[in-house]
Formats: sequence, C-alpha cells, structure tokens
Amino acid sequence: MVKIFEEILRRRTFGIVSHPDAGKTTLTEKLLLFGGAIQEAGAVKSNKIKKTATSDFMEIEKQRGISVATSVMAFEYLDRHINILDTPGHQDFAEDTFRTLTAVDSAIVVVDVAKGVETQTEKLVNVCRMRKTPIMVFINKLDREGRDGFDLLDEIEAKLGLKLCPLSWPVGMGAEFQGVYNIWNSSLLLYEGSNKQKIEKSFSINDLGSSDLENRIGENAANTLRDEIELIRGVYPKFDKKAYLEGDLCPVFFGSALNNFGVKELLDCFVEIAPSPQPKMSIERLVDPTENIFSGFVFKIHANIDPNHRSRIAFVKIVSGEFQRNKNYFHVREKRQLKFSSPLTFLASKRAIVESAFPGDIIGLPDTGNFRIGDSLTSGEELNFKGIPSFSPEHFRFINNADPLKSKQLSKGIDQLMDEGVAQLFTLKSNGRKIIGTVGALQYEVIQYRLEHEYGAKCSYENYSAHKALWIESKNEKQLEEFLKFKSRYTAEDKFGRIVFFADSSFGLQMSIEKFDKLVFHEKSEY
Ligand code: G4P
Repeated sequence: MVKIFEEILRRRTFGIVSHPDAGKTTLTEKLLLFGGAIQEAGAVKSNKIKKTATSDFMEIEKQRGISVATSVMAFEYLDRHINILDTPGHQDFAEDTFRTLTAVDSAIVVVDVAKGVETQTEKLVNVCRMRKTPIMVFINKLDREGRDGFDLLDEIEAKLGLKLCPLSWPVGMGAEFQGVYNIWNSSLLLYEGSNKQKIEKSFSINDLGSSDLENRIGENAANTLRDEIELIRGVYPKFDKKAYLEGDLCPVFFGSALNNFGVKELLDCFVEIAPSPQPKMSIERLVDPTENIFSGFVFKIHANIDPNHRSRIAFVKIVSGEFQRNKNYFHVREKRQLKFSSPLTFLASKRAIVESAFPGDIIGLPDTGNFRIGDSLTSGEELNFKGIPSFSPEHFRFINNADPLKSKQLSKGIDQLMDEGVAQLFTLKSNGRKIIGTVGALQYEVIQYRLEHEYGAKCSYENYSAHKALWIESKNEKQLEEFLKFKSRYTAEDKFGRIVFFADSSFGLQMSIEKFDKLVFHEKSEY
C-alpha cells in the first residue's frame, strides 16, 4: 500500500497542446533529453501532417505509424515519473486530441511568440477549461522577433479566457534577446555568446535593484527589466498553487525550445507544482487513485498496427489501484473477465511489456475488437467513467453501400471504426439513413480506405448539409415530442441512442432555441 501511494505521488501525466508549428515536438524532445529518455535531438519524429500532405493518404498511414510510437512518452526526472501524452495538432484529428485531454492531469500550452494565439490552441484550451485542467503556458521562439510580451499576455487572457501569472520574463527579444529573468526563483538566465546556441548561464539575483544587473545585461536592458517586473507585480496576481490546481490561474514561462532555453526552468517548476493523478468521477461514484482496487478507462484506440491482423491497441489510463499483467479484469460494458498477457508501456519511442502499472500511467492493451472508447476496466466493480464526451462534428455525409454483396462487412467495419472514434455515426429518425460526422474532411478518405482494405467493403458518400449536431436535453416530454414531429427530417440517434438535432445554420438553431424553450441543445454528448 505504501508503494502504490509513493508511486501515485511521483506521477505527473500531462499533454502539450499547441497549434501546429508552435514547437510542441521540439519542446517534447527537449523534455525527454532532460529526462535521459533520449540521447540526441531529432529522436522524436514530429507526428504532424505537413500542410502540403492533407490529402495524401499514404502520408496519413505513415503518420499513423509514427503517432502510435509517440502516443505516450514516459521519463524520469528528479524522481518523478512523467508521462507525456501526445496530442495531434492537425485539426482533422482534433477529436483524438479532445479525447486524449480526458486522460491528462495537467497541460502545457505552447504559444509562438510571433503568431500568438492560433485557432487550434483556442479549441484545445477550451476543452481543458471545460475540464478545469491545470494549465502552464510556454511562450516559445524568443530567439526570433516576436510580439510585445504584455500584448501577448493580453491576447492569451482575452482569447483563451485564462487568468495568467508570469513566472518568467524575457530580457529583450529576437536579435536583442539576452535571456530570461526567472520570477519563480529570482534568477537570471543568460545566453552565453552571441550565437544563442544552447549554452546558458544562470545567476541568482535576489535584488533587481542591484547594480549587478547592469553589469550582466547593460543599463538599458536592466532598466527595462526592472520596469517590466514592477508592472507585472502590480498587474498580475501572485502565483497561487491552489488556484493553478483548480484551473483558475496559469503560470507563464518564456523561452526557446529549439535552443533549449528556459525549458529546464519550465520543467523544474512543472514537477514541483503539477498535480499527481486526481480522483475521477464515474456514474456510480468518485474514484480515488489511492484505492487499492484497480480501475481505468479507454481513451484512445489505435488500429491497424498490423493491417494483416486487424490489430489494435487500446490505451487505458489507470485511475486507481495497481494493474498487473496476467490478472483477470472486468470489462464493465461487456460484463466479462479479460486477462492481458502482453500489456505495453511506452518509453520514449520504445514499447515494452509491462508487469505492473500505477494510477496516472497509460498502458496499451492489444485488442481484437473488444474495446470501445470510454470503456471501463476494473477489478470487478461496476464503474462507468464519465468525461469522454463526443463533440459536434463539423462535416456530415450520408454513407451508402457501394457493394450490395458486402453489406455485412460494411456494417461491421463501420461499427468498429466508430468504436475506435474515427468518426461519429448518426441514424436519421425519419428514414433510417446513416450519416457520418467528422471533425475533418480527411476522415472520409480514411474511412473509405480502411473499409475497403480491412473489411473488404465499399462505400460512397453524399453530402448532407448541416451546420452542427446537437444533443438534446429535454425538460418537458411534450415539447420534445412536438419538436421531434416538427423537425423529424433533421433528427437522428447517435450510436448510443441519444437524440441529436442537425441544425442547418446558427440562425436556424437560434430559432429552435427560442421556439422550444424547454429543450437544451448541447454541442457535446455529456452535459
Ligand atoms: P509542432 O510540433 O508544434 O508542430 O512544432 P515543431 O516542434 O515541429 O516546430 C515547428 C518549427 O519551429 C520547426 O522548424 C522547429 O525547428 C521550429 N522551432 C521550434 N522551437 C523553436 C524556437 O525556439 N526557435 C525557433 N527559431 N524555431 C523553433 P521547421 O523548419 O518547421 O522544422 P525542422 O526542419 O527544423 O524540423
């Protein structure tokens, strides 16, 4: 019992979120270098799909291979066991990222100093905020000319809705960039030499008024820094760990991931303040990580590792208790016992069979089709974890069977792909036609290709024009009945039988909201 307690306290499971190109891969790599999990830069492959390749299917397949290797990267640092969960930045895989964020205990948001807040960052941070995930912000690429620090903080607060608390501050920027002042531990980190390459020096400066500052960075920079730090102390709240842990205050660090500058400071602060695994709500009760009975949930399924065997890996986040290889566990939805002889862990880009794992850890369970996203696995108790909602897709198409002799294969294929969370399936109430909803248009190609190559089925698509899918919560059965009658052509059931309304425009939705005031229209399936 003592061991599991210690193991839980040592765990830090987090995700790095950013818009593509802000520097997520570079930062991940530098963190792994600190942890000794990799020995050289360039070892972590970027799993982003280059912009030019958005419709190149083979490229996607290749990327899928890379992304299984980088799905989880674990390393040790200062006696902490850190699990980084990879979050695809590409918008067509946003749903995957949303789900991964249900398995993190905290997040680091990377912002490019020149570009500021970009669309994908906004969407992902929204998901974190919804879940009250503690967030740290890393402003990257300070070696380049960028935006004024205060402007950037204003933009982050306004667009991301975060309350910020700078814990470091840049001394100059771009060509003038000399280093950062670490407010967290009152030290000044300076680049050594003019080429801004990797070497850094750190000085303790307890009193910013000291003339030592001029000697280090020159009079102008010293005065500017003093003024700016004074302004920060006046304008921004003091760091408050409780507020951070509740998702109400986000520490900000500045640096350059490429030059390995400011990364160690971020990591040192992270291991000190970031939360260890937290209790998780199930439909039945709140589950605490320190309970000695095992529980976990599937947040991601990665298929097609070996296309010949239709193999998949189900990624399970452990919520409580110790997981052990070759022990029987209860698959709650299917109500049966399963035993795993080769559960996997992921260390940097290596996979290995694991004997035991603890709350906060992610294990990969080889699967032949037993699991669905959101499934719970326990020592025997009937627990169904909440918090893995479906989000409204942005694209909708009818799916048709293009080979009548293969209708069984088609429906099995669609079923399994939906279990994996590739897309969402809706069945229209009026005529039973099937609609596939996705976050990115790319997914339709993926589905078509995989149905053909893995299930021997063929499909074709037809556009279905909808603005959004909304899950309906009814506070009045009569009004719901009326609505379903009135909008019968625009209502469907999702895979779990929940009622969904396809709004044709935001105006149309507004009209429905006004007319049917006892119904609530949600953009996600859990509310
Ligand atoms: P991502 O995973 O968020 O998509 O970003 P990634 O780390 O791949 O970084 C995107 C680009 O930004 C890369 O350049 C990377 O080298 C560069 N970069 C990351 N951090 C910094 C930094 O601190 N300063 C500067 N100046 N550049 C940085 P690329 O040319 O797209 O790729 P590569 O050929 O260098 O790999």
